Amino acid sequence: MMTTERLDQIRVGGDVPRHVAVIMDGNGRWARQRGLPRHLGHREGLKSVRETIEGAIEAGVEILTLFAFSTENWNRPVQEVSALMGILQLYARKERAELKRQGVEVHVLGQLDRIDAQTREAVDMFVDGTSGGTELRLNLMISYGGREELVRSARLLSERVAQGDLDPADIDEGMLSDTLFTAGLPDPDLLIRTSGEYRISNFMLWQMAYTELYISSVLWPDFGREHLFEAVLDYQRRERRFGRVEAP
Ligand code: IPE
Ligand code: IPE
Ligand code: MG
Repeated sequence: MMTTERLDQIRVGGDVPRHVAVIMDGNGRWARQRGLPRHLGHREGLKSVRETIEGAIEAGVEILTLFAFSTENWNRPVQEVSALMGILQLYARKERAELKRQGVEVHVLGQLDRIDAQTREAVDMFVDGTSGGTELRLNLMISYGGREELVRSARLLSERVAQGDLDPADIDEGMLSDTLFTAGLPDPDLLIRTSGEYRISNFMLWQMAYTELYISSVLWPDFGREHLFEAVLDYQRRERRFGRVEAP
């Protein structure tokens, strides 16, 4: 099926997921298959980021959340970590103007104090330079881990309890949500993981309670908008029940 046909199908297919999250996986394998160093796989993955952003806008997705670097990824060899930070800087500098033009508002979520000063600066300029975009909100998850995020929430709430501002009995789901990096955003409707891995890898543990999962066998550097559209079409065929007998 052609990409435009898929898009036409999405238009008649019903609700488009408001919030799509993606675990961008398989860059290393893509490079290995070609006898290339891993960092060239990461580099090639930028094309897929571009494609996915454009496809999300075309399909009418409001929020796109991309998992770019996990807390556990800090345990990779230093050369790979610095290559990834370099690619992130390059991306932030090169794409800022284009994303602004497209109306994409970039947010960077994660434990950013672990990032080196140069990358941090590029990221801050990226966020400042795209603020106000109304076509798509893009969350780049960097140095992000779902468990670490929840530990941080526990800390934030207990500080308020310790200060006497909060009664533990008043802590509810909404209050906890408000302490997450994603405060104020709806939970992801659809999670796409590429490279055929069937796991969450510490991504958005709280937020994904009722997210629809879609595993694509495509390696991230080969992922294009047609694959995104395929995932959205699959999502549109599902019945979300949220624990009830039928869809609300
Ligand atoms: C995803 O690709 C990118 C990051 C995790 C930063 P990988 O680097 O995990 O690629 P594989 O899984 O080794 O193929
Ligand atoms: C998940 O991929 C993290 C990102 C895509 C940023 P990994 O490649 O790090 O996950 P595992 O090690 O396969 O679980
Ligand atoms: Mg991987």
